[in-house]
Amino acid sequence: MENAVRRIGVLTSGGDAPGMNAAVRSVVRAAVYRGIEVVGIRRGWNGLINGDILKLTEKSVAHIIDRGGTILYTARSEEFMTKEGQQKAVNTCKLLGLEGIVAIGGDGTFRGALELSKFGISVVGIPGTIDNDIACTNYCIGFDTAANTAISCIDKLRDTMQSHERCSVVEVMGRNAGHLALYVGLATGATAVLVPECKDTFDIEIIDKIRNARVNGITHYMVVVAEGAGSALDVAKRIKDEIALDPRVTVLGHIQRGGTPSARDRVTATRMGYRAVDILANGRTNRVVCLCDGVMTDIDIEEGLKLTKGIDKEEWTVLEAMTGR
Ligand code: F6P
Repeated sequence: MENAVRRIGVLTSGGDAPGMNAAVRSVVRAAVYRGIEVVGIRRGWNGLINGDILKLTEKSVAHIIDRGGTILYTARSEEFMTKEGQQKAVNTCKLLGLEGIVAIGGDGTFRGALELSKFGISVVGIPGTIDNDIACTNYCIGFDTAANTAISCIDKLRDTMQSHERCSVVEVMGRNAGHLALYVGLATGATAVLVPECKDTFDIEIIDKIRNARVNGITHYMVVVAEGAGSALDVAKRIKDEIALDPRVTVLGHIQRGGTPSARDRVTATRMGYRAVDILANGRTNRVVCLCDGVMTDIDIEEGLKLTKGIDKEEWTVLEAMTGR
């Protein structure tokens, strides 16, 4: 069957996530396999505005599946939020003969893609963010690697907290969502976890849990705080004021965004990249690739952006049992 597109562009936008390179590689390889040309757009939507491009071949994406970051660079574009910026991006597409764009990133990236689609350009989004906060998909590329990075840091912290019988407060990323903190808290056997979705329960979620651990003879405490629930410094101060511990604070920060992508991120990225090309080749547009209950599928971008995602209720229930009452 003939492809609906002959030339497409691929870009990464927003905060980078481990596995973005694997997704770029997959888009290129899947497209070349079908006889579709691919252009890499550098620095996110800014690159489309400025014509900052490079031709991508099978060879140019060799040996990037294992690399963190993004070879295409990334950015958050203010100009693309304006109609003038979008018009410039459309002009670049026309000039370069780009009939479709694959945009890898988070919901800001997809909002940009939606605007571009209104000018008649075919677009597909691939979810890539360590926050895992895109509602239309169970999984976003980068989450697993970021979680494993945070877990290995917290395991190390725990050793020294145990030796000194201390309390550690660790802040993990996640923007306004607690998915990363909850998952990391479960995996590290945290004493308590604070997420934005339940941040008004500080006394129940933090103070009572530490008291409970203390009553049970535990002498060191690991508190995981999602950045969206407040700063680790503030949480540590409240713990000090309320129960006279002297917590040590660690903000893991951007270290969570780097590193070699895990097997899960490489494979998911490769599957999603393939799916994105398949959508465009079949003349479909305005889609976000999503993984739902283990099945690779896609959804209309606008519909997807309307959805909301809460933290995983089952994971939270299990955490409550593990941290006790
Ligand atoms: O969205 C990914 C993310 O790493 C968030 O977890 C975090 O809040 C934000 O990006 C940090 O952004 P910046 O790279 O601009 O500091």
